[in-house]
Amino acid sequence: GAGEYAFYCSFHPTMHGTLVVTGEPGQVPEPPDFEQELRIPEVLNGSDLTIHVRRAPVRVMPHGPRTRMWTYGGTFPGPTIKRPTGTTTRVTFVNDLPRRAGSLTVHQHGGHQTSADDGQPTRQLIVRGDSRTYTYRLVEGGKPMPASFRFYHDHRMGRTAPNNWRGLQGMFLVTDEREERLGLPSGRFDVPLHISERSFTPHNQLTDPFPGARMHEWMTGPQAPPNDATVGRRVLVNGQFAPYLKVRPGRYRLRLLDASLFSAYDLALSSGRPFVQVGTGSGLLPHKVVRQDILLGPAQRADVVVDFTGQAGENVLLSSIPRSDATVGTGTRSAAIMQFRVRGRPPTRDARVPDALRPVPHLDVPSTVSKTWTFDLTKSGHGSYWSINDKMFDPGRVDHRVRLGSIERWRLRNTSDVTHYVHLHEEQWRTISRDGRPPPPWERGFEDTWRLDPGETVEVAARFTDYRGVFMVHCHMLDHEDHGMMAQFEVY
Ligand code: C2O
Ligand code: CU
Repeated sequence: GAGEYAFYCSFHPTMHGTLVVTGEPGQVPEPPDFEQELRIPEVLNGSDLTIHVRRAPVRVMPHGPRTRMWTYGGTFPGPTIKRPTGTTTRVTFVNDLPRRAGSLTVHQHGGHQTSADDGQPTRQLIVRGDSRTYTYRLVEGGKPMPASFRFYHDHRMGRTAPNNWRGLQGMFLVTDEREERLGLPSGRFDVPLHISERSFTPHNQLTDPFPGARMHEWMTGPQAPPNDATVGRRVLVNGQFAPYLKVRPGRYRLRLLDASLFSAYDLALSSGRPFVQVGTGSGLLPHKVVRQDILLGPAQRADVVVDFTGQAGENVLLSSIPRSDATVGTGTRSAAIMQFRVRGRPPTRDARVPDALRPVPHLDVPSTVSKTWTFDLTKSGHGSYWSINDKMFDPGRVDHRVRLGSIERWRLRNTSDVTHYVHLHEEQWRTISRDGRPPPPWERGFEDTWRLDPGETVEVAARFTDYRGVFMVHCHMLDHEDHGMMAQFEVY
C-alpha cells in the first residue's frame, strides 16, 4: 500500500534507503492541491556575474514557514544563467555559507571548459569567505557550441548529495541564433522546469537523510553505512511543491531537468497528448521525436514542445507514471508533479516545430573501443562500495589517458544489479550503440548522461578538444557518486 518504507539489501549493505510508494502501478496518485503559481528563476545574462552562496529562506511549501536552504544567490534553484554561445562568461561564486559547510566547488554540467574551471570534487575549492571565478568560453574547437540546456551544481567530494539536497543547484542556458531561427516557442513560451524532491519536517525544514559516518569510517569500522538512495517525499518544480502555471492554448517549450539525487521520473501529460522532443540537455536532436512519455534520471534533460491548443479551460497535469518494470534500484517514482491551467486566447504568433532540427556533425568514430568503464558494487573486507572497474574513487589516481585531439570510443557497462545514470564530463558525446543496437531516436544528439540498466552496455564517442587536464566519470545518482562510483580521465 501507499506509504514510506525503509529498505536494505542483506547482500549489499550499502544499498539502503527509503522507498516511497504513492500508488499502484499504472496509476498516478491522487493529485495534491495546486496552490502556488510556478516561479521562474531570475535570469542573469551578463558576461561577469557574481553569485553569493548563502543560507536563505525559500518558499517551498504553500503554507507555513519558509524552508531554510543553502542557495546560489538566495533562491532555490539559483538564478538561471542565460548566455549567447561563443561569448566568454565569468561567474564568481562567493562562499558565504556557515563554517560547517566547508569548501565548495561549482560544476557547470554539460559544459566544456578547462579542468580548473570544471568545478571538480577536490581541486580549486572555494573555502569559506573566499570566492572563485569560473570562466566559460562556450566555444569548442574554435566554434561556438550548440545551444543547450545545462545546469550548475555543487560537486564537493563525498558531499555532493547533501550539498545538492540543501539547495546548491541552478540552471544554465546557452542560446544561439541558428536555433532561434527555427521558430520554436520562445520568450514566456519557453519554460525551464527544474524537477527535484525533498522531505520536510512538520515545520517545513529539510530533513537530514545524511546522518552518521563518512564513507571512510563505515568502510573500516563498525558504523552503519549512510543513506545510499536519497529520495524525498515531495516532488518540487523550480523549488516549489505542487505549483501551477497558467498557459495559453498554444505551444510551449519546456526544458525538463531531473535534478534529483536519486529518483527518475517517467513524465507524461494527463491529457494524453505527447511531448515533441526537440533536444537533449546538450543540444538539439537531428529530428524531432514524438514521445508519449519521457523517462529522465538524475542529471538528464529533455527539451520538449507541448501543445495546449484547443484545451482552453482545461487543467493538464504533468505526472511521473509508475513503470511496471521499476525495481527498487531504478528509483522511478510516481507523482502528480505540476498543473498547467490552460486559459485565455491562443497566442497571436504560433510557434513552429520543424521536422529537421540540426544535423549532428559527422565524427570518424573508431571501430575499436579504447576504454571500458564497468559500473559495479565491490565488496571489501568490511563492507562494500560503489565502484568503477572495481575501484573506489581516488582523486590521486588517473584511470585513463587520452591524447588531446584524438577521437575515442568508450564502452560503459553496468554489471551491478541496479540501474545507474552515468555522466561524462567535458566533451560533446554521441551515443554509438545501446546493447549493440543503434540508440533510440531521442539518443541521437549530444549526450552527457546515460541510463544503464543492469546488464546494459552503451558505447559513446567524442573528440577531445581544447583542454588538457583531468576530468570526471561518475554515476549521477549522487549517493553512488559520494560512495565511490567516480573515476578520472586525463587529456594530455
Ligand atoms: Cu552534474 Cu560531475 O556532474
Ligand atoms: Cu549509480
